Amino acid sequence: MKDQLKEFRFETKAIHSGSHPNHALNPPIFQTSTFTFDSIAHASAVMNFESSDYVYTRGNNPTLRVLEEKMAELENGVGAVAFASGMAAVSSVLLSLLAPGECVLHHNVLYGSAYSFVTKFLEKYKIDAKGIDFTDISVLENKIHTLRPKVIYFETPANPNLDIIDLESVAYLAKSVGAKVVVDNTFSSPYLQRPLTLGADVVLHSATKYLGGHGDVVAGIAVARDMDYINSLKFEYMCELGGAMSPFNAWLILRGLKTLAVRMDRHCENAMRLAAYLDKHPSISHVMYPGLDTHKNHEVAKKQMAQFGGIVSFEIKGSHEAAIEVINRFKLAKIAVSLGDTETLVQLPAAMTHIGYSDSELKAIGLSKSLIRISVGLESIDDILEDVAQALNITNL
Ligand SMILES: Cc1ncc(COP(=O)(O)O)c(C=O)c1O
Repeated sequence: MKDQLKEFRFETKAIHSGSHPNHALNPPIFQTSTFTFDSIAHASAVMNFESSDYVYTRGNNPTLRVLEEKMAELENGVGAVAFASGMAAVSSVLLSLLAPGECVLHHNVLYGSAYSFVTKFLEKYKIDAKGIDFTDISVLENKIHTLRPKVIYFETPANPNLDIIDLESVAYLAKSVGAKVVVDNTFSSPYLQRPLTLGADVVLHSATKYLGGHGDVVAGIAVARDMDYINSLKFEYMCELGGAMSPFNAWLILRGLKTLAVRMDRHCENAMRLAAYLDKHPSISHVMYPGLDTHKNHEVAKKQMAQFGGIVSFEIKGSHEAAIEVINRFKLAKIAVSLGDTETLVQLPAAMTHIGYSDSELKAIGLSKSLIRISVGLESIDDILEDVAQALNITNL
């Protein structure tokens, strides 16, 4: 069945891939912390990887294995490691690839906690983090040979300003200095973009977002092209640092994956309609959406993404206070961090998801304090547009 699945298209694989124990249509939730052995000989065989039986859920579990197999398939990798959260995936992957004295080169716009981890946490372990603008590949080309990073790390599209980074060009440059390329694919999901196919070494997700899709789980996952690396990530980092996903959360992500393709189609369609509306709105100074031909890297987005995602960010013409007033006026959209849920969510990154950036850091990377990010949900687009229109209808814009 596994080999045959290689022939199927993404939507089919998202539903069928991964072996299901006991012919269950849906994988059972193996709600157990530990597994029993017939004898010490059996235990030794499992502990020494001579058998693929299970030991302990912080390491492996049949429900987690189904998810890991499915995600490896969907991202065109060879294996995956499930984590307790997206940040557990980010931190474990970066720690697994870096040592004191080495450098991680990252795009200067990252999700707030990832930015804090890279710039503040890693510093304590004498790992040097350098943030530069990857949207202009010549900037990376100029810096890479002098900095000689061990890891190149970025999100594309980036959170929250939807910067688009050319995956193939970055992977090409990384190869010239032997750096590993780690891509956070949370905003796209594998339905829209598969970084491993374009040369990345590791792809990771906050599975909390589109993979789960319903705002009811916090989870993460990393996928790679090298099985030795996957085994090291799982048994030397995930197991030791302890950020294991629970079987119930794996089951929720598996359920979410079945509808990923249809949900993403609607998220993208609604987001494109919203971006086009905002682009013409007199109170808006700048709309950030990779599907608009005014987006700086629209051509790169067209090349590497099947569609342009469900997140739209924009700056209003007024002040930070006016942006707060607009957000407070939303009625249908909920004010919340997170994204990729069925509900439309709106937030102010400078005060919420990106609060870890100081004012001077925000300024240095050109992130306005009045930037509003909307995770466009699956409601009727007409209701979403009416809500945005009434929220923008304030007098001091
Ligand atoms: C792009 C990106 N990566 C990683 C994370 C962290 O994921 P989690 O909240 O599941 O730990 C987030 C969370 O918002 C995110 O937006």
